Amino acid sequence: MSLRLVGIAGSFNRPSKTYTLIEHIAGLVAENYGFATNIYDLKDVGPSLGTALSRSELDDQARQVLDDIVQADVLVVGSPTYKGSYPGLFKHLIDLIEPSELRSKPIIISATGGGDRHALIVEHQLRPLFGFFMAHTLPTAIYASDRDFVDYKVASEALSGRIGSVVDELAAFSFVPSARASLQAAE
Ligand SMILES: Cc1cc2nc3c(=O)[nH]c(=O)nc-3n(C[C@H](O)[C@H](O)[C@H](O)COP(=O)(O)O)c2cc1C
Repeated sequence: MSLRLVGIAGSFNRPSKTYTLIEHIAGLVAENYGFATNIYDLKDVGPSLGTALSRSELDDQARQVLDDIVQADVLVVGSPTYKGSYPGLFKHLIDLIEPSELRSKPIIISATGGGDRHALIVEHQLRPLFGFFMAHTLPTAIYASDRDFVDYKVASEALSGRIGSVVDELAAFSFVPSARASLQAAE
């Protein structure tokens, strides 16, 4: 069975730059290592999130997304920047995860924002959040601003370079097949 990557975009927008960024990263991980991928946004989680004080109060749809997140082999987390941080409902989703459920999980952290002023959201907000869970956040964090996209597609060499770096970094995990081995298997 394929290893599974799950992406979660902390945005309600469709189209969404955050979703696009995750899709781009996930596509490269699938291509290089043969992962199966599944990506969600907050609309997929649905309206029960806002009123649920615990996992048991979520509806089936939201619970399914959370189950998928915690069972993933690798996570790609992406957040839009709201007032210099992640959106409240995105944090609320993460608040419904038990600390043990993300322990040691490899997580690619990424964020989008209107400009570059809040680029350190990835280091100052997202990395410590997943540090709480004792997850393995990958060394390269990805931040993208409006000018890195054209028509909701990744269109910047510098951004593509950083995405390439984090995809390479995944190979450090022993359960991830080497890129060459997975490509040979596909032939
Ligand atoms: C309520 C709100 C607050 C925002 N605050 C910031 C901010 O502090 N810094 C920033 O760079 N962009 C900010 N933005 C812009 C969004 O982060 C940016 O457009 C993001 O890429 C949207 O992602 P999406 O297309 O995935 O929804 C804000 C947008 C909204 C709606």
